[in-house]
Amino acid sequence: MAGGAPLLVAERLTRHFGALTAVNGVSLDIASRERRAIIGPNGAGKTTLFNLITGSLAPSAGRILFEGRPIAGLPPHVVARRGISRSFQRTNLFPRLTVLENLRLAAAAGGRGSYNLLGRVARLPGPLLRARDAAAAVDLADRLQEPASRLSYGEQRQLEVGVALATSPKLLLLDEPTAGMSPEETLRMTRMLEGLPREVTLLIIEHDMDVVSSLADRVTVLHYGEVLSEGSFQEVKADPRVYEVYLGSA
Ligand SMILES: Nc1ncnc2c1ncn2[C@@H]1O[C@H](COP(=O)(O)OP(=O)(O)OP(=O)(O)O)[C@@H](O)[C@H]1O
Ligand SMILES: [Mg+2]
Repeated sequence: MAGGAPLLVAERLTRHFGALTAVNGVSLDIASRERRAIIGPNGAGKTTLFNLITGSLAPSAGRILFEGRPIAGLPPHVVARRGISRSFQRTNLFPRLTVLENLRLAAAAGGRGSYNLLGRVARLPGPLLRARDAAAAVDLADRLQEPASRLSYGEQRQLEVGVALATSPKLLLLDEPTAGMSPEETLRMTRMLEGLPREVTLLIIEHDMDVVSSLADRVTVLHYGEVLSEGSFQEVKADPRVYEVYLGSA
């Protein structure tokens, strides 16, 4: 990626739900290897933005380019094959299957956007190897034979990130990965995310400002579906408009 062509570009992205405009003219540039946090009050349009990027929703207007190619409106499985993967806020695991089986299914069914082999499908490691890699990446290598239902809540959330990672995505979208976690679980998840390979570009919706400050290279603040502010964590924190939004909602 010499020259720094962005991995993901959103141009004037808009999504209406009837009279409501959930995402309103959002433009974004996400660099390859970047870790970007999306923050903003409840209802700001963060999850809707993710749904537009992953193909769960079609935009009402605007464009999305991934590696320079338009993806807006493509079905989710096609977007996934291009190399975009996500974890959900609510759990998305097979509870009776083991950790390894959950990861292996994801690796076998998942996208083909290898981050380590520049998309050369024929040379991708097999599903079992990718499942084991993903388990190690999310600190669950010693729990491979455990049914998912027997993991703690925090470990289940880690496994969900692993499931998203097992498809070897270029871009990983995480919607509130620390939601509902204890401080210890949050710290563990943060350390785990910090340790992910830089080749996986991260877009993360997060309410916990400690997580945002330790993880994000840049922060985008959404408010009523619009980009209110963008910059480093320190820049965004010092923006009086951001202060007002959070003071008003806190
Ligand atoms: N499928 C839908 N149909 C109708 N309205 C929707 C739909 N999805 C989202 N909305 C509305 O769009 C707005 C933005 O919702 P969204 O879930 O994107 O917010 P969010 O920033 O993720 O909020 P939170 O922090 O609570 O998760 C909200 O007013 C929500 O009620
Ligand atoms: Mg949301």
